[in-house]
Amino acid sequence: MSLERTLTVRVERISQQTPEILAFELAHPWGRALPSYEAGAHIDVHMPGGFSRQYSLARAPSDAGSYVIGVKREVASRGGSASMHERVREGDLLPISAPRNTFPLRTEARHHLLLAGGIGMTPLLAMAQSLAARGAAFTLCVFARSEEHLAFADALRAPDLAPHLRLHLDQGDASQRIDLTALLAEREADTHLYVCGPGGFMQAVRNAAAHWPEDTVHAEYFAAPTDANTTTGQAFTLRLAQRGISVPVAADQTAVDALHEVGIDIPVSCQQGLCGTCVVEGDGTGAEHRDYCLTGSERRTRVALCCSRAKGQELVLQL
Ligand code: FES
Repeated sequence: MSLERTLTVRVERISQQTPEILAFELAHPWGRALPSYEAGAHIDVHMPGGFSRQYSLARAPSDAGSYVIGVKREVASRGGSASMHERVREGDLLPISAPRNTFPLRTEARHHLLLAGGIGMTPLLAMAQSLAARGAAFTLCVFARSEEHLAFADALRAPDLAPHLRLHLDQGDASQRIDLTALLAEREADTHLYVCGPGGFMQAVRNAAAHWPEDTVHAEYFAAPTDANTTTGQAFTLRLAQRGISVPVAADQTAVDALHEVGIDIPVSCQQGLCGTCVVEGDGTGAEHRDYCLTGSERRTRVALCCSRAKGQELVLQL
């Protein structure tokens, strides 16, 4: 359960984007501005039935003052997407978290290559709009099954994005399909790659970009891979440098749980290493990192405590 502050928003508008994807526009109940954010950010949505899920904001920050998210109804839904599709209606109030961004645009990049698979388009659409607004160099490649399965088609084809868009439709014109291996074979200097989509798509991009420097490839996962182990491992000790104490972590315990037992609460949300809520400063070189949200260089000085453990006997944290 997240310990972060929640705010309440009203569902202003629900629009059918594809047979499986609904867009929800969320606004302040009394018309005030919602907290600001940067492209790539996501929010936690606490929905009917007690479910909580993270959704990327699918529109660049704008004067509209509202948030837009896209929710795909998953066949194997554990309840979250089904709850949003079946139980949430226009006018309903929903508790959400303030936006958090673990997938930001990199200021050091001179060209941005955005690869979006299916519903993974949402953060990348916001990023593309943001880049277009500032006149930056970018390419947005969107992969979808067919025209019918293309969400946010109007925004993608708007004049600000259309010149930067490459569309790959599995069932579309073969000459327009994108060969990932060819696309990523050569990396121009100062190009950064951003990817979001289903697991298989993410893996295909990662394979095709295996030769890119690690700090130039940025990924936003929806879920931890099915073989991910985010809870157990060897027992170890957390040394809290600022407090001058050590806290034991049992083999079947997470660092967050061990800290909770001694009265130190670390905010958590996804508890799968995806969202970055539980990240703290520490000696990342001594950690066995199991998250999906930190880059290689961030991992040197930060650790996601919901899933990561010590490489050896001890992990030093700036707590
Ligand atoms: S709680 Fe989401 S990364 Fe740890």
